[in-house]
Amino acid sequence: MSKSVIIRRPDDWHLHLRDGEMLKSIIRFTSQHFSRAIVMPNLFPPIVNSQDAIFYRNLILSAIPEGHIFQPLMTLYLTEGTDPDDVEKAAANRVIHAVKFYPVGASTNSQFGIFDLERVRPILERMSEIGLPLCVHGEVTDPEIDIFDREAVFIDRVLDPLRTRMPELKVIMEHITTSDAVDYVSQASSLLAATITPHHLIINRNHILVGGIHPHYYCLPVAKRQKHRQALRIAATSGSSHFFLGTDSAPHVTSMKENACGCAGCFTSINTMSLLAHVFEEEESLENLEPFSSLNGPKFYALEANTETLILKKQSEPVLWPKQIQTREGNVTVFDPGFDVYWQVEG
Ligand code: DOR
Ligand code: ZN
Ligand code: ZN
Repeated sequence: MSKSVIIRRPDDWHLHLRDGEMLKSIIRFTSQHFSRAIVMPNLFPPIVNSQDAIFYRNLILSAIPEGHIFQPLMTLYLTEGTDPDDVEKAAANRVIHAVKFYPVGASTNSQFGIFDLERVRPILERMSEIGLPLCVHGEVTDPEIDIFDREAVFIDRVLDPLRTRMPELKVIMEHITTSDAVDYVSQASSLLAATITPHHLIINRNHILVGGIHPHYYCLPVAKRQKHRQALRIAATSGSSHFFLGTDSAPHVTSMKENACGCAGCFTSINTMSLLAHVFEEEESLENLEPFSSLNGPKFYALEANTETLILKKQSEPVLWPKQIQTREGNVTVFDPGFDVYWQVEG
């Protein structure tokens, strides 16, 4: 008999939808499986205030294909100019659901971000008062610090001091990649959570560098050594409410990935749910796919879980995805796990 799993419809708690032609071409791959997504604000220029967020939300809504029901949950890009009153009003009106902190130099379009969190203290205090979560890209950018250590050092130098200063602030450590982050988040109160991407459950740093350089496995934070991948798999499949799905699906055209200075990001919206079913089955924890993908995220964000369902069926033939998605800006390469996957989303 063929195996199947029924879960509440999932949400993506960390997603890059871009704008323009890219948005129009890729949004369907999220809205076909996910009900909601926390939309990252790192456009060029970034989404920095409530007016930007409303404009961007309308752009997204107008790109959703007919018949798909999808709700974008907007975020603001934290800058030194962020206005606490604007943030509070936008949060009260459900225009935004979080604010995203990018350390300057950490990632795509992070040049508008923050050097020192002390300089935005009034905004963080306001967020803490109103219960609005801060999403953090958790890497230091100090050139002295090795790129493979940047997440662990961030916890010691930035995240832990922040949480000591502001114990009531809700924080999500985005796209964690290390056992250090797993340990830190696991031991924290329910005010700290972490998102985990499908690709960090599947690749370690060898996948990027062994046998030639594999630019489509390059993302930020960069994948770490195998013991870290194992820690992430244990955390994600544990059912612990500290951990939930954020794909960090981040489309770049193939020519910008296969480049002398390639962009960071894996495009996974299209195959995330199949990949997760594969990983959770391998870890003998299929029963925890639903908490990870559909329950823990809404609980942290104080939203209801979705009532619709999603069915995954294990078929006898491997699932086939396009290798590339065509857009008017160029092709986007789909994340290839490097092994066959048999779990197909039904419908
Ligand atoms: O790999 C990544 N790509 N990591 C990020 O933090 C940003 C993202 C992007 O926007 O391309
Ligand atoms: Zn990030
Ligand atoms: Zn991201």
